[in-house]
Formats: sequence, structure tokens, C-alpha cells
Amino acid sequence: MLFKLTPKENRDELFDREEELRELHRLTRTEWVIVLGKRMTGKTSLLKTFLNEVDGIYVNAMGMRSIRELIAELMKHVRDLKISIDLGLAKVTWTKIVDDVFSKLEGRVIGLDEVQELPSNYFLKILKRVWDTYDIRFVFTGSMVGVIKNLIEPGPLNPMYGRQPAILRLNPFTRELSREFLLQGFSECGLRISDSEIDEVVELFNGYVGWLAYYGNYRCIRRVPHSKALELVYSEGKKIMMNELERFLSNKKNRDKYIRLLKMLPARWRDLELGLNVNKKVLRDMLRNLEYAFIVEKRGATYVTSDPVLRRLVMEL
Ligand SMILES: Nc1ncnc2c1ncn2[C@@H]1O[C@H](COP(=O)(O)OP(=O)(O)OP(=O)(O)O)[C@@H](O)[C@H]1O
Ligand SMILES: [Mg+2]
Repeated sequence: MLFKLTPKENRDELFDREEELRELHRLTRTEWVIVLGKRMTGKTSLLKTFLNEVDGIYVNAMGMRSIRELIAELMKHVRDLKISIDLGLAKVTWTKIVDDVFSKLEGRVIGLDEVQELPSNYFLKILKRVWDTYDIRFVFTGSMVGVIKNLIEPGPLNPMYGRQPAILRLNPFTRELSREFLLQGFSECGLRISDSEIDEVVELFNGYVGWLAYYGNYRCIRRVPHSKALELVYSEGKKIMMNELERFLSNKKNRDKYIRLLKMLPARWRDLELGLNVNKKVLRDMLRNLEYAFIVEKRGATYVTSDPVLRRLVMEL
């Protein structure tokens, strides 16, 4: 059921993405991998489907702030583990617990979804230990490159130096795939969608499968008419993307400038420089941060916000 709103978990329900799955199978034979993609492009669906095929372990790291939480989650997948975390803290060192858990997971693939909040130095040290000691492969996903930079581009002082994961980029669908996705979903639920409606949806949602699935769900399951469904996708999506934007802005000193910049897009460097009245270095840093967070991308010489929901909500700020 393509318009189901939870992440897909197997190939039968996953639309397209065969190439990405093939790549994951190939890369994980020897590498650790990080799947990078914008919000709502299907990272979790790809990861879960892949893990199902390799008997891997799925861990949602969203909101996890410590290794302890991660280990506790992994322990659920380990049979015949003698120690519990509480006991362990009293009697054995934390490293021993980590070793016990990972040694029991030898040979497995661990999928860490939304890894962006974890990469402390301690976390990286543990990863290094796993890398050096056990036959375990990790697949990470993330949508905030800035935050996970120390995992994907580790510097010489970083424990993961020389061990960076291979990057698999997950791109939004092309217009053709978006169209096929809608047609297939509507045909599954036995409803008709007109050509002009398809054109409008394809144009508006720019290949973001999550927004397309929302739209289809409103139309097919909840039987909401076209225009109303478009509005509902926006109002639901706005909550998600506002959160994302706030998360990005939360540690920025010049938050107002960021918002002004976003409102000016699409724009070229020169227009931004003049319009914002900032020096080159400041502008370069701002754009790099926005690109790392997948909020802005460069197309030719023009900077754009490609997520349609984000683009509209920025204009309303
Ligand atoms: N290849 C696909 N085929 C069919 N539906 C998909 C596909 N990829 C994603 N979806 C649907 O799109 C929505 C978002 O997918 P998913 O949660 O996997 O994306 P995500 O990139 O992990 O999102 P987030 O950035 O919020 O974590 C869900 O409704 C999911 O069922
Ligand atoms: Mg996800």
C-alpha cells in the first residue's frame, strides 16, 4: 500500500529504490555506510527494507543522547546476555558491557536511523573499537550533515579518522517517478486522479515521496478532495519542517539573517551579498551551514530551497 504513512519495510511496498538497495547490499559487504538525504525522501523506508533482507537490527537513534541508551536498545536484540545494565554498572566497567553486547552481535548489520544527535567523542571512540574488533557493519542515516560531519569527514584527531563510512545519497524522485508513484498508488486504492491534478501535485511536491504519500493518503484513505488534500499536506508538513528549521536555527547567533536569506531564495550569490549586506566570509559560512543541513542547495549558480513545504513556510515567517 504505497500511501501508507509509516515507513515501508519490504520490497513489495517500496516504490523504486532498487538501485539504492543494490548499492547498500554491495557496499555493506565491506564498508560502513551512511545514507544521506533530506527529510521525507524515504531514508527510514530504505534502511528498514534493507535490514529486513539481511536480518539486520534497526535502531531509531532519534532523541538518543547517550551511548547508554543505544546500548540498552541493542541489548534487546542480544539473547543470553548475562548482565543487565544496572548490574553492570556496579560490577563491571562500561567498556566491558559494550564489549559484551557487540561481541554477541558479530556478523550482524546494525542500522542506526537519525544518528545526528549521537556523535560525541565517546560515541566515536566506541565506533572505532567496534570497527577494530568486531565483524559488525553499521548503516547510519542522517538528514543534518553539519551535525554528523565528524562521522563523515573525521579529522586526524578524530577516533574515526581513516574509517569514514561510504556515503549513499538518497535523492528525491524525478518528475516521472513521482507521476508513476501517484498513478500506482491511486490504482491500488481504485480511485481515479485527473491529469491536471497529477501535474499539479508533481509540480508542487518536487519528488519528495513523503509529501506525495501524504497527499495520496488524504485522497484515497480519508477521501478528501484535491485542493483540500494539498492544504492538509502543507499544514501537516509545516509542523515537521518548522521543527527542522528551529533545530537548525537554535544554535545560530544571526538567526534573523538566516531567515532573511531564506526568504530571498532562489537567488544568486551576488544578490544575497547585496541584499543581506554581509561580508563574503559570513555569507559563505551561512550558505555552507544551510547546505550541510540540507535546507538549501545550489543549482547551477542559484541557491534554492528545494523542499516545497519549507519554501512556503519560510515565506510566511
Ligand atoms: N520508496 C518508497 N515507496 C513508497 N513509499 C515510500 C518510499 N519511501 C518513503 N515512502 C513513504 O514516505 C513517507 C516518508 O518515508 P520515510 O519515513 O521512510 O522517510 P524519511 O526520509 O526517513 O523521513 P524523515 O526525514 O522524516 O525521517 C512514509 O509515508 C513512507 O511510507
Ligand atoms: Mg526517517
